[in-house]
Amino acid sequence: MKFICPKCRRPLVREGGALRCKKGHSYDIASQGYVNLVLSGRSRSPLPGDNPQMTAARTQFLESGAYAPLAEAVAETLRGVCPEGGAVLDAGCGEGDYVRRLYALLAPIRPEIYGVDLSRVGIRHAARACAAYTGEDVRFAVASVYTLPLPDASMDAVVNVFSPLAPAEITRVLCGGGCLIAALPGARHLFEMKEVLYERPYENDETLRLLEGLRLLRTQRVTYPMALEGERVRNLYRMTPYSYKTSPEGAARLEALERLTVTADFLLCVYGKE
Ligand SMILES: C[S@@+](CC[C@H](N)C(=O)[O-])C[C@H]1O[C@@H](n2cnc3c(N)ncnc32)[C@H](O)[C@@H]1O
Ligand SMILES: [Zn+2]
Repeated sequence: MKFICPKCRRPLVREGGALRCKKGHSYDIASQGYVNLVLSGRSRSPLPGDNPQMTAARTQFLESGAYAPLAEAVAETLRGVCPEGGAVLDAGCGEGDYVRRLYALLAPIRPEIYGVDLSRVGIRHAARACAAYTGEDVRFAVASVYTLPLPDASMDAVVNVFSPLAPAEITRVLCGGGCLIAALPGARHLFEMKEVLYERPYENDETLRLLEGLRLLRTQRVTYPMALEGERVRNLYRMTPYSYKTSPEGAARLEALERLTVTADFLLCVYGKE
């Protein structure tokens, strides 16, 4: 367990049901096996785009395996960069679907995979879903990607799927030779759903952000059709930001659909530490 104290940045050590630093700061371990490392006063900020309905829809949609090919592509990249027993962070892991899949796919190299997210509901779900892989070790924390409770140079890789990117913290926690694997929406991602919702749907902009301290090593496109029916169509819609940006008419058209074949299109970008 590599977490550090958010107050004094010293290592945390497990003592019974809590993680404690040498200064005596203490953080209870929840029954699901995670800790809250957000300092009080900073945890009440509202999270735009992350309401309970979206979270529930995302959990159900991802658990159905619709984005499993993305997890497989991330695992393939990790096999090339993560040594046996190495450490990986999913920064903004949500409900932990990718962490759980990565634990299963990377079982032969026995990595320690950590997950942080500001959503307590998400982290609680993630810790529970990964308990079979993490055992008694605490690998999930409620924390911001902008102030990671992890030591410098402690991670072999950082994974980020559709979550805020904080380059300064990513480069700080990556070891020399470590890499960031970031999944971004490709131009055609969910295009057929946007055709139902909007008069004039647009393609996503694929201009890659320059991330300070990181060098783009390569990109890989992961694209495939998804044939969805019934509740899976609605869950996909409800987990996206379109669910609060669409006109009532567009939303009604989508909610009435019984089936939809829609493109999943991801750009997997691998960055090295400069
Ligand atoms: C679109 S979701 C993606 C979640 C997950 N990676 C997935 O693909 O299922 C974005 C996530 O970023 C989290 N988030 C937003 N701001 C954050 C921050 N400052 N620190 C940590 N997590 C944050 C949200 O709580 C949410 O779980
Ligand atoms: Zn401390």
